[in-house]
Amino acid sequence: MDLKTKLEELAQTSVTRIEESTSLKDVENLRVQLLGKKGELTDLLKMMKDLTKEERPVIGKLANEIRDDLTTKLADKKEELEEEALNKQLQEETIDVTLPGRTVKKGQTHIIHQVMEQMEDLFLGMGYNIIEGSEIVSDYLNFERVNVPQDHPARDMQDSFYINEHYLLRTQTSAVQPLVIEAHDFTKGPLKVISPGKVYRRDSDDATHSHQFHQIEGIVVDEGITMSDLMGTLEVMSKKIFGADRVVRFRPSYFPFTEPSVEVDVSCFKCNGAGCNICKKSGWIEILGAGMIHPNVLEMSNVDSTKYSGFAFGVGPDRMAMLQYGVDDIRQFYMNDQRFLSQFSKEGAE
Ligand code: PHE
Repeated sequence: MDLKTKLEELAQTSVTRIEESTSLKDVENLRVQLLGKKGELTDLLKMMKDLTKEERPVIGKLANEIRDDLTTKLADKKEELEEEALNKQLQEETIDVTLPGRTVKKGQTHIIHQVMEQMEDLFLGMGYNIIEGSEIVSDYLNFERVNVPQDHPARDMQDSFYINEHYLLRTQTSAVQPLVIEAHDFTKGPLKVISPGKVYRRDSDDATHSHQFHQIEGIVVDEGITMSDLMGTLEVMSKKIFGADRVVRFRPSYFPFTEPSVEVDVSCFKCNGAGCNICKKSGWIEILGAGMIHPNVLEMSNVDSTKYSGFAFGVGPDRMAMLQYGVDDIRQFYMNDQRFLSQFSKEGAE
């Protein structure tokens, strides 16, 4: 077989071999086998030396054409296989946009704060200011300035956490009374504030007592404030929080810093006064303590008690939330258990 035929044969078989390659590695190996320094084409060209002078350029041209052709075909095959691999990868890695996304867990305002915000909105609407008192106060402010002198038996009502001899965690938001009354400029109009915040007592914790809970203190002082202002205000508040058809009842009570003092009950929102497990069969639910600010408190805050009078009330948002939502253990509010807390989501957070 002459060289020309051998070359043509090589060209032909090579085309099939290239077409049959299935991987990039096959193509590269084939390139070396066919066109490499020790490759099949180079081998054949070694036989050029036996050709005649006339044959040599013809065969040389043919050999070059074959080399170019094979080079192109190998490159094409390589490109084809690369594209195939890419398509395969793209197909395997497709993103299914119809799959549900990962949800972001949204928190929500703590239920106690929701109740406090509801109260704040209500009282802001009635022209009150909101002030926040300090949680660490002096013994003097927490007790003496609200008419509970040293050794007064009423101190037993509120056992406290002392930080040192003179400072304690406030047991009641009533500790803000002296400060706001003293600071108010009565020539500019009445004093009307509410003060929400945390208070602390050394109670033994049980289902209805926690050593930490919340209060909202309400304080109004001006000329001519009477008990009927207090009663009207608390009635509006109770109906707003517990429903418009609630009835409010006032019972005489005792607090050292108010005189007269009252405790306020609201008709049970569950049984409407008939008696049930929420109101302990009485038809009434106690919601807060209140009264007319004691003249001693006004005087100690440099306010003339013959000219000015006022009322104060202290309400517990924890208790309100328990009643509103039928929560039977106050400690639930403080355990940070999302399964409990997320039930009170306003925005339906998951
Ligand atoms: N400070 C009282 C308490 O903690 C509540 C109260 C506030 C009563 C204001 C009367 C007036 O129980």
